[in-house]
Amino acid sequence: MSDLVVYGSYGYTGTLIAEAATERGLDPVLAGRERRSLESQAARLGCEFEVVALDEPKVLDMVLSDATAVLNCAGPFARTWKPMVEACLRTETHYLDITGERTVFEAIHDQGDRAADAGVMLLPGVGFDVVPTDCLAAHVAQRLPDADRLELAFRAENGVSRGTAKTMVEHVDGGGAVRRDGRIERVPIAHESRTVDFGWGLDGQHVAAIPWGDVATAYYTTGVPNVTTYMAMPERAVQLQRAAGLVTPLLSLPPVRTGLQWLIEQTTEGPDADERERGESYVWGEATTADGERVVSRLRGPHTYALTVETALATARRALDGDAPVGFQTPAGAYGPDLILGVEGVEREDVV
Ligand SMILES: NC(=O)c1ccc[n+]([C@@H]2O[C@H](COP(=O)([O-])OP(=O)(O)OC[C@H]3O[C@@H](n4cnc5c(N)ncnc54)[C@H](OP(=O)(O)O)[C@@H]3O)[C@@H](O)[C@H]2O)c1
Repeated sequence: MSDLVVYGSYGYTGTLIAEAATERGLDPVLAGRERRSLESQAARLGCEFEVVALDEPKVLDMVLSDATAVLNCAGPFARTWKPMVEACLRTETHYLDITGERTVFEAIHDQGDRAADAGVMLLPGVGFDVVPTDCLAAHVAQRLPDADRLELAFRAENGVSRGTAKTMVEHVDGGGAVRRDGRIERVPIAHESRTVDFGWGLDGQHVAAIPWGDVATAYYTTGVPNVTTYMAMPERAVQLQRAAGLVTPLLSLPPVRTGLQWLIEQTTEGPDADERERGESYVWGEATTADGERVVSRLRGPHTYALTVETALATARRALDGDAPVGFQTPAGAYGPDLILGVEGVEREDVV
């Protein structure tokens, strides 16, 4: 039995992760609820597989009983984190996932004491959301230890996968969120916008506030009490986002949400190999003190999904090697700001 279980291994991102894990000799056990998909994937990759749904706690415990860590790739994670985390606590298995859902980070954070008692690490967010932003947050906070405000922005190229689109619909009625004085506050979507110099020829980019996972995690990593996160988007898209905020109550109606999920199922494929190969991602971070002192650093790296595969496997490997601090963890909290520099193709520069 392998030490690593990849749950949701036949989804878009799970497939990329399972393939890379196999190529690199991690010998993962592939798991999920759909036998046919698992059978053919396991035959193709030469792996063991386990069919288990998340409402089968006894089977889940059996699957995890010999594992050191599970990497949960089954999202939206609002629907999957709880049964998997509970199974990890029962079976003393480290838990990692690729969520970007702010509310999921908060819910898993609340299980931190139980995890510490069980000797288990809970490390959500080991994908593009939030490894590079979390590492940059930790880096700028280290450069300016008295900072009381963090602004983080990212620019992602070449599309999203079906699961990511469905996860966005899942949280469509959540609006925006920022952290103020240590607390998460709801704000209208895209309530703030500004320009950011991402560097590498991408200066003066327009960004708008979105409730990215770091609104939850950056505070736990750095202790900085005010956090706003932004995504690059054209000014016209910001106006559309704000207008969409006006129809949010409509979008959150169950039939409308189901219709949107169906539409995504029919129309969204996710970036292909060529797009993943060509695309790049950019992260910018600024820390500021109350009296106006300021530092800025930035990162450039591979396409978001390519980066997700690398950061998910890098953190899983650390856990398998016994480097798994117990309790709730963030990526940079567990492994430091330079974790991201271990990914091939990632560059970081200090600007101010
Ligand atoms: N952190 C990041 O940067 C990052 C990067 C990539 C993806 N993601 C997130 O990862 C998730 C997956 O994305 P994707 O594009 O790979 O999605 P996808 O192609 O739709 O795959 C989702 C996988 O999760 C499984 N799943 C979903 N709900 C489940 C449930 N209730 N019980 C058991 N299995 C369940 C699906 O199995 P069935 O087919 O049997 O339903 C499938 O294997 C999304 O939430 C996405 O936002 C995050």
